[in-house]
Amino acid sequence: MSKITAAITGVQGYVPDYVLDNEELSKMVDTNNEWILSRTGIKERRIMKNGATSDMATEAVLGLLKKTNTKAEDIDLIIVGTVTADYPFPSTANIVCDKAGLTNAWGFDLNAACSGFIYSLSTATQFIETGRYKKVIVVGADMMSTIVDYEDRTTCVIFGDGAGAVLLEPNTEGLGIQNFILENDGAGREYLVQPAGGSVLPPSIETVEKRQHYVKQEGKQVFKFAVTNMADVSAKIMEDNNLSSDDVDWLVPHQANLRIIDATSNRMGLSKEKVMINIQKYGNTTSGTIPLCLWDYEKQLKKGDTLILSAFGGGFTWGAVYLKWAYNS
Ligand code: UT7
Repeated sequence: MSKITAAITGVQGYVPDYVLDNEELSKMVDTNNEWILSRTGIKERRIMKNGATSDMATEAVLGLLKKTNTKAEDIDLIIVGTVTADYPFPSTANIVCDKAGLTNAWGFDLNAACSGFIYSLSTATQFIETGRYKKVIVVGADMMSTIVDYEDRTTCVIFGDGAGAVLLEPNTEGLGIQNFILENDGAGREYLVQPAGGSVLPPSIETVEKRQHYVKQEGKQVFKFAVTNMADVSAKIMEDNNLSSDDVDWLVPHQANLRIIDATSNRMGLSKEKVMINIQKYGNTTSGTIPLCLWDYEKQLKKGDTLILSAFGGGFTWGAVYLKWAYNS
């Protein structure tokens, strides 16, 4: 019997309608379009005005089920990569099961910040490869507007809201996820953290007054680690799997900063046409960036294409996934 691999057989995204552009941000904090565009590559981002992370995830999941002609009750498992869960508990995955009618699935949230989607995808892959499950949904969803301080110009210009979902199914043609490398370094919490709201600093009037429930980032430090680690891990996964730059059809990078994306693709020796980029319209949606890229570029993907997914985020967490695309749209 041929080996079972886990292949992505569909992708769907959801972004809220409201567009927060650089112009509007310039009226909220001391910033300007030129600075944001030249330092990050972002022109606008989407903001969820009503609803929660589970609502964005549910929209993506319902769209995915429809598009792939899959019955909600046939889903075995859902993993939601997120740092903006609806509640500390129950998990957003539990809520999405309820809202999307995944009556036979179980699920859990996976918190790996901007690496949430690749961590979740790699985890989900195991349940398919072992033959245990036939249909697993992996979601990357974050409503960053709920944890971003719109008085802090160093963070509020970067983030946006959005969700993406993929369906994973068994494949016997050798397509789908081939390999992954996942890494972390918890010492990175010094530079990128949401200080209050957990067991270190439970929410209180004082933590709110000090604005400690918002994302704090030392941008320059995070940038240095991100550039090095995302480029290194992307080069390593190519090396480990004997892939040359000619063998790689697409880089699907986490969308944190166009300069980090450029550094990664240069290190891999890839030309610009092979790099998925949508940071200009969504900003950094944390766990959402990679599935949203796949959604935007789906029509250009061909069966058998070689993709490298690569991310770096809070934790620090980082990693790369090597996969072969399994279908033509
Ligand atoms: O996705 C998860 C991981 N996160 C990342 O990968 C983010 C990594 N970091 C970055 O992308 C970049 O560091 C930022 C985009 C956050 C910042 O860009 P930078 O080129 O590193 O800028 P900087 O922090 O060195 O700041 C340069 C200057 C400073 O002014 P002075 O000290 O030179 O006078 C900042 O105060 O730019 C100033 N500045 C701004 N000016 C206008 C910072 N934010 C803004 C702003 N508008 N929004």
